[in-house]
Amino acid sequence: MEPSDAAAHHRWNHDPDVMRWFAHSYPVSAERFADEYAERPKNSYERVVLGIETVVDGRLIGLVALSGAEPETGGAELDIYIGETDCWGHGYGTEATRLICRYGFAAMRLHRIQLWVADANASAIRVYRKLGFVEEGRARDTLRHDGRWHDMVLMSLLEGELQDEDGMS
Ligand SMILES: CC(C)(COP(=O)(O)OP(=O)(O)OC[C@H]1O[C@@H](n2cnc3c(N)ncnc32)[C@H](O)[C@@H]1OP(=O)(O)O)[C@@H](O)C(=O)NCCC(=O)NCCS
Repeated sequence: MEPSDAAAHHRWNHDPDVMRWFAHSYPVSAERFADEYAERPKNSYERVVLGIETVVDGRLIGLVALSGAEPETGGAELDIYIGETDCWGHGYGTEATRLICRYGFAAMRLHRIQLWVADANASAIRVYRKLGFVEEGRARDTLRHDGRWHDMVLMSLLEGELQDEDGMS
């Protein structure tokens, strides 16, 4: 992500549809966000953040991140969102998640990638299951949305379990 991507990132972070299944965070001004954005640390083993661009026109539509990687355990945590909502349902989320997992296992030599997802986030769960993630457990009543409590589901993918386009590992 470039400092010039701050405006797009700020817009995504303040779009209620995009942030629907994330824990509440307080709004931040665009100017302050851009200032902090410029100071973000560069990518490293501990935290890799990558923009998602379409192949056709190079449009920035979202981001993926692997954070908290530990060489001792070979584990890291995945985050993804497609911030441009008109791009939902076109396979970008699946492809970007697949690519960052492949990168994590191959380049970072991870053994395990985990994530937390709200139980009602059906499209995200569909993406993760398709790629081979399995449910490991849940934290009950963790996220309140539209007057209802939701569980957060812990899912993980181990080295060798990533499903390819043709369903092969
Ligand atoms: C979740 C997200 C990353 C998915 O990205 P995407 O580009 O729309 O995903 P894809 O198009 O690759 O795949 C979506 C899948 O969910 C399915 N889907 C969509 N809505 C669904 C629903 N209500 N119930 C079940 N499946 C659904 C689609 O049919 C598709 O599956 P298919 O390929 O088998 O047909 C994107 O919607 C997003 O960024 N959401 C907001 C942020 C977020 O929730 N991030 C995840 C936090 S854990």
